[in-house]
Amino acid sequence: MAALPDEALELLESWLPDNDEPARPRMQLATVDSEGRPDLRTVLLSEWGRDGFLFHTDATSRKVRELAANPAAALVLLLAGGERQLVVRGSAERAGAREEARAYARRSPYVRRHAWVNTPEVARLPRAERVAAWSLFGAEHDIDKLEAPATWVGFLIRPDRVTFWETDPHAPSHRLEFTLEGASWSRAHLPG
Ligand SMILES: Cc1cc2nc3c(=O)[nH]c(=O)nc-3n(C[C@H](O)[C@H](O)[C@H](O)COP(=O)(O)O)c2cc1C
Repeated sequence: MAALPDEALELLESWLPDNDEPARPRMQLATVDSEGRPDLRTVLLSEWGRDGFLFHTDATSRKVRELAANPAAALVLLLAGGERQLVVRGSAERAGAREEARAYARRSPYVRRHAWVNTPEVARLPRAERVAAWSLFGAEHDIDKLEAPATWVGFLIRPDRVTFWETDPHAPSHRLEFTLEGASWSRAHLPG
């Protein structure tokens, strides 16, 4: 799929934080299951660039099963206190090992530990035992030296449509939309 055009990339640069900023934006990630039913959840945007938008998750999760059956995905990010909305539609593919390791290293100690302890087995325990499992893992490991567990996986959403929605106190809200048509991107101004 063709990489995003310069104009879209420049807008992303002014709308999104740099990839090395520790606080990552939240986004809603939509997938569809094997029967075409929609699914939705919040994830962190790990990185973005000309090729698309990366997020990281657990390999055993429902979203990963759904993407394996159907790579179609959509994202929405609410930005600038709700004055801007970035909507992305595209197709998900597994990220490279380097991106996965980099995203893990950039996550907070809580998230890095979470990636190890957040298993289906721990989830089934009563809360006191979940607290004990969390604390035991912390006592037995130096989290700063741990690499990502094998279940830590990343996906790149390669967009075929990116929409920049913006409100305007003096005019109707407005969308600038980039759509991939064949090998090239078209752009359209749309009502908000
Ligand atoms: C603010 C916030 C950030 C989250 N970030 C992530 C994330 O980056 N990756 C992830 O797998 N789950 C994240 N979650 C948890 C997901 O929303 C979801 O519960 C989990 O991934 C299981 O989703 P699934 O069963 O649809 O696969 C986050 C939840 C919230 C509320």
